[in-house]
Amino acid sequence: MASLWGGRFEKDMDEIVKEFNASIFFDQRMYNEDIDGSIAHVTMLGKQGIVTEEEAQQIIGGLEEIRSEIAAGKIQFTVDDEDIHMGIESRLIEKIGEVGKKLHTARSRNDQCQVDGRLYLKRQIREILGELARLEQVILDKAEQYAEDITVGFTHIQHAQPITVGFLFMAYFQMFRRDMERLQDTLKRMDLNPLGACALAGTTLPTDRFLTTELLGFRAPTENAMDSVSDRDYSLEFLSDASISMMHISRWAEEFAWWNSSEFSYIAIDDSYCTGSSIMPQKKNPDMAELLRGKCGRVYGDMMQLFTVMKGTPLAYNKDFQEDKESLFDAVDTWKACIRIFAGMLEKTEFRMDMIQKQLGKGFLNATDIAEHLAKQGIPFREAHSIVGRMVKACEHKGCDFDGLSDEDLRAIDPRVSTEVLGDISIPACVDARTSFGGTAPSEVRRQIQVGREWLHHV
Ligand code: ARG
Repeated sequence: MASLWGGRFEKDMDEIVKEFNASIFFDQRMYNEDIDGSIAHVTMLGKQGIVTEEEAQQIIGGLEEIRSEIAAGKIQFTVDDEDIHMGIESRLIEKIGEVGKKLHTARSRNDQCQVDGRLYLKRQIREILGELARLEQVILDKAEQYAEDITVGFTHIQHAQPITVGFLFMAYFQMFRRDMERLQDTLKRMDLNPLGACALAGTTLPTDRFLTTELLGFRAPTENAMDSVSDRDYSLEFLSDASISMMHISRWAEEFAWWNSSEFSYIAIDDSYCTGSSIMPQKKNPDMAELLRGKCGRVYGDMMQLFTVMKGTPLAYNKDFQEDKESLFDAVDTWKACIRIFAGMLEKTEFRMDMIQKQLGKGFLNATDIAEHLAKQGIPFREAHSIVGRMVKACEHKGCDFDGLSDEDLRAIDPRVSTEVLGDISIPACVDARTSFGGTAPSEVRRQIQVGREWLHHV
């Protein structure tokens, strides 16, 4: 079959070249956006008198029919279609005849594929924002549920200070909030219409790019035609946003896998989010957590792929840019699925407070609180730090925790310290007292949840 661009050619493309050159097998997922772009374009051509209103209507009718046929699975694209743009245009010409040949006036595939890409990504970003919002909702509800429950806070994977489970949830809430804000920012910057840039330099025909901009719901037309067809920054930004967010998911997934281990047993991941072993009958593996952790590498790969493709490409359009789609689509699918799976897993995970409780006595979690308590009584913090350090040593000697030190033991460490001076150093009392802004006290976590809910309500 002769290609739509075949005029100056004497030979058909070699079969293997056709195959290698084609993007139809992956870019057909943008068929809706391609048709939306074409309808806006031909509406504008009609309004500007570049085609007649009647011709515009005929073309729009044909495009809508093609849209329904594709949706119903009645059109099978083949390698001869080359890409979705020509796949649809050649169907249009088949369907409505000569008038169909007017659609591509004042347009190039170089701007067409960009309008498709931006429309597609804008829609996907809105969906992903919806998924992230649902995840944030689950996090807020869980944070509320566990606002008072105390767990171990780690640094260097060592027992550090007691925190509430709700507090930890709210730490992740902030990460996903930033992910959403980054995505909104990307959306704002990419919301410009490249249609009408044509091949690279605009057109001599009296087009109205502001009209297509309005029809397609973009904020404004892109300023420079050459940049419009060469720019893939918006995809790179999206892939960067996806990579950062996948990193957040993978960090929490890693914690889930650990907490679910028999050594920790801090959580019980629901059966519906685990799998078994084909040989070891007793196994219940946290495969979803591991896959979520692993998928991050895949999205980093998608990001690196496009960064590498774009590096050193001269202006304006180069065929290299066709390589911008598969990794983008893969990142869209992977990120979206991961957020959904993660939210589901989180919702169904139960924190085993009885098991966590057993760990709270280990590792002198309240050591910093005691030092701060002494500092409040006028002992310089550096000295207080050293006193508590010696208390830890004494405990290790005696094989007890702080409660096991007598007045005599304490005075031997420093005459200013006694059990009375120490007061209530229980773990819950320590957590309750960490009321500094952003701290782990339940009252403070509740404030964070409230702020989070208000923000989520307005996104
Ligand atoms: N399939 C191409 C792509 O995805 C469309 C643009 C082709 N333009 C061209 N001049 N060959 O990038």
